[in-house]
Amino acid sequence: MTPTVPTVALGDGLHVSRIGFGGMALSHAYGDTDPDEALRTLHHAVDRGVTFIDTADVYGKPRDGGTGPAGTNEELIAKLLADRRDEVRIATKFGITGAVGAPAARATRGDRDYVRAACEASLRRLGTDVIDLYYLHRRQLDIPIEETVGAMAELVAEGKVRHLGLSEVTADELRAAAAVHPIAAVQSEWSIWSRDVEARVVPAAREVGAGFVPYSPLGRGFLTGAMTPERVSAGILRAEPRFVEHFAANQRIVELLRQVGRETGASAAQVALAWLWAQGAALGLPVVPIPGTRRPARVTENADALRVVLDPAQKARLDGAADLVRGSRSLSFTPRDWVSADRE
Ligand SMILES: NC(=O)c1ccc[n+]([C@@H]2O[C@H](COP(=O)([O-])OP(=O)(O)OC[C@H]3O[C@@H](n4cnc5c(N)ncnc54)[C@H](OP(=O)(O)O)[C@@H]3O)[C@@H](O)[C@H]2O)c1
Repeated sequence: MTPTVPTVALGDGLHVSRIGFGGMALSHAYGDTDPDEALRTLHHAVDRGVTFIDTADVYGKPRDGGTGPAGTNEELIAKLLADRRDEVRIATKFGITGAVGAPAARATRGDRDYVRAACEASLRRLGTDVIDLYYLHRRQLDIPIEETVGAMAELVAEGKVRHLGLSEVTADELRAAAAVHPIAAVQSEWSIWSRDVEARVVPAAREVGAGFVPYSPLGRGFLTGAMTPERVSAGILRAEPRFVEHFAANQRIVELLRQVGRETGASAAQVALAWLWAQGAALGLPVVPIPGTRRPARVTENADALRVVLDPAQKARLDGAADLVRGSRSLSFTPRDWVSADRE
């Protein structure tokens, strides 16, 4: 099948498909997963031209007794890379030290030895000799970010990594990092109901020439309208006020997305993605969302969002959704300073 997704340049000359694929929930997070369907979904994404694949060392269920980053999502993605390495831009992350569910999953490391060891482990699990985009997932707050990024820059010099990225950094952290090495991409949560990055981080990304990779662009599934209370209770969102106490109030945002979808012939998910591209254009920087799904058909639906055109009145109505949101984007099981807005 001929790829039908155009590419775009993030920062530092990194060209990727205009929509990426988030691999996290293929292994854990929002409900049961099936490894065979997960691999089919990954192949379908690449067939469709969605070739920018996102993972992290910490994604996936730990093996019995495993305490460090599980690496099982990277191992799943290695099966795709085994056949199609040349077609894919692979992004992975390091910095969160523990397996999902373990206390160390909320701890971070960014010292030079750890950076090097984490990269070697990801290369081994992914079965590749180079990572296209290597992100610092969460910074270690008591180590200067310049030190961590300096160690990451050594990996670029050695050919193990092609480009550097940062996740959930503040504007000041981003500027300090970019003074050490060009930053190709900032990955933080950004969607129609999570817009705090627009105040300072997005302008800083534009200033340093980094592209933006919004994670959870579909609000962890909520913005698609397909989320039910049963589905919330099946995964990591079961105790999150945004999804539980405020489930009904926040449906007003879904209803707005559906209304605009009826006008444009699109689904709520597609409108949510189209809003992000429109917002990136308005704010003057390349934006490449990475929605995740376990199902091939939804990969197609999400990629088809590139065809949706919002007129200025529709865009303005969608901008107004920010006033309807109830509940914070921070997850209650992570540290208070885990998202950049909470330490600015
Ligand atoms: N840097 C970080 O700290 C960080 C944090 C979180 C996530 N991420 C990255 O961002 C990626 C995406 O974020 P995310 O998975 O949290 O959230 P998301 O992409 O906003 O939403 C994913 C959820 O939406 C559902 N979905 C996807 N497309 C749909 C559609 N067209 N219609 C209906 N439902 C749809 C999926 O369910 P089904 O599987 O049932 O389709 C899944 O449960 C992750 O995979 C990960 O790579 C990074």
